[in-house]
Amino acid sequence: MSDLAILGGAAQRTRPFPLWPQHSSNDLARLQTVLESRNWGGYPFPNQLASEFAHEFAAYHGAKYGCCVVNGTIALVVALQAAGIKFGDEVLVPAYTWDGTAAAVLFAGGIPVFADVEPDTYCLDIQAARRAITQRTRAIIPVHLAMRFADMEALLKLAAEHKLAVIEDCAHVHGGEYKGHGAGSMGDVGCFSFQSSKIMTAGEGGIVITSRLDCFEVVQSLVNCGRASVTDQFKKRVVGSNYRITEFQAAILLGQLEQLPELAARRVRNAALLTKRLTQIEGISPLPVQPGLTREAIYNYVFRYRRTEVSRDVFVAALDKEGIPCDGRFYEPVYRSDLFQVNPDDFPQLKFGRDKPVDYDECLCPISERAAYDESVWLPQFLLLGEEEDVEDIARAVHKVVAHLRELAGADPQLAGVKSLSRAERPRIEKARNY
Ligand SMILES: Cc1ncc(COP(=O)(O)O)c(C=O)c1O
Repeated sequence: MSDLAILGGAAQRTRPFPLWPQHSSNDLARLQTVLESRNWGGYPFPNQLASEFAHEFAAYHGAKYGCCVVNGTIALVVALQAAGIKFGDEVLVPAYTWDGTAAAVLFAGGIPVFADVEPDTYCLDIQAARRAITQRTRAIIPVHLAMRFADMEALLKLAAEHKLAVIEDCAHVHGGEYKGHGAGSMGDVGCFSFQSSKIMTAGEGGIVITSRLDCFEVVQSLVNCGRASVTDQFKKRVVGSNYRITEFQAAILLGQLEQLPELAARRVRNAALLTKRLTQIEGISPLPVQPGLTREAIYNYVFRYRRTEVSRDVFVAALDKEGIPCDGRFYEPVYRSDLFQVNPDDFPQLKFGRDKPVDYDECLCPISERAAYDESVWLPQFLLLGEEEDVEDIARAVHKVVAHLRELAGADPQLAGVKSLSRAERPRIEKARNY
C-alpha cells in the first residue's frame, strides 16, 4: 500500500489548524452593548459603531473617508457608480479574480473587459491592460490578489494617460501596504469585503474608502436609499438602495481591526518560513518576493506547482487528504467561469451601440488559464495562524506528496474529485466549508 493518504496511507497531519473566524472577549462586550441599546440597524445613517469603524478603517489605510456596505460586490458597484461609470462604459479587470469583480461592472451598467495577469504576482499585467484600452474605456479595477499587489505605480500612470478612474479591489488585502501606501488609498476608491473567509470578517459586509469627498458623498447616498450625504457639499442626487450594515456587524468589525496587526504579523512570519521550506522542494515554486510590499497582507498563501507527473488538481487533492486544506481551482479566468453566465439579452450594455455583442468566448488570457488550471495552489490564511510546527507540517505534507508523485501518475484522474469541479458545482458537495 502507498504511504499517500489519498491512496489509503496515513495522513501527514491529523490535528486541525487554528479555527476561523477568531474573536475576543471585547467582541462579546460590544455585541451585548448593541443588543441592549436597541439601536441595531444601519439607520440613523451612518450609525454610531458603523461610523466609528469606517473612520478608523479608512485612517488605517491612509484614506480620508470610509462608508460600510453590505458586501464587497456592492462596494464595487457603488464605487463604480460614484466614479461616474455609465451604461456601456468599458472597465478593465484582471481575468484571474473572483467573478464578483466583473459582475459588479455589469451590475453598474458597464462592460468588463478582461486583461491577463503577471506570472509572478497573478495581479493585473499593466501592458495587457494597456492593449485592452479602447475609446469606450472609462475605468480600471486592479485586484490585489491573495498576497500580492498590482503594480500601482505603472497602473496609475496608465490611468492618468487615458483619464481612467481607478477602483482598487482590496477584498484580499486588509491592512496591506504597497510602497508605503495603504490598500485602497492609491486609486480613486478602494473596496473591501468582510465575507467569512476574508482576513477581517463580520460574516458578511464590505467597505468603500476614498479621499475624494465627491465620491464619498455619492457612495453614502447610494447606500442610504438616495438620502443626502452627511456633508452634501456636491449636492448630487441619485437613486439609492438600502446597502447599510447593522451595528452588530460594526461591533464585530471593530474587534477585527483591533486584532488585525497581530494576526497579520503571525501570518507573515509563518509565510516566510513556509516559503523557505517550499523553495527546497523541486518543482514547487513560491511567488517571488515583491519588492514594493511594505506591509504584507495574506488572504491565501499561493504557490506554483510545476511538476509534470500528475495534474495540479490531483496534487491538490492528495495534499488535502494529507490534512492540509488547499485548493487549485480557487478562481478560474472569469470569462470561462460557470459563475459568469453572461447573456447580452440580460445585460443589454453588451450590445449597445455595437454591430455585434461582446463575446466572452473570444477571450484568451494564457497566464490566467495556466494559473487556474495547471499551476496555482491556494492555502487558506488560517493555516498560518498557528505555530512553526504547523508550518513544518504543511511543508512536510507537500514534500511527501511530491516524493510520491510517481505512484499517483498511474492512478485514476477521478481522484481529483471535488478539486476538479468548478465553483458553481462545489457547494452541493462542500457543505461544511465556510472559506
Ligand atoms: C477579489 C474579490 N472581489 C470581490 C469580492 C466580493 O466580496 P463579497 O463576497 O463580500 O461580495 C470578493 C470576495 O468574495 C473577492 O475575493
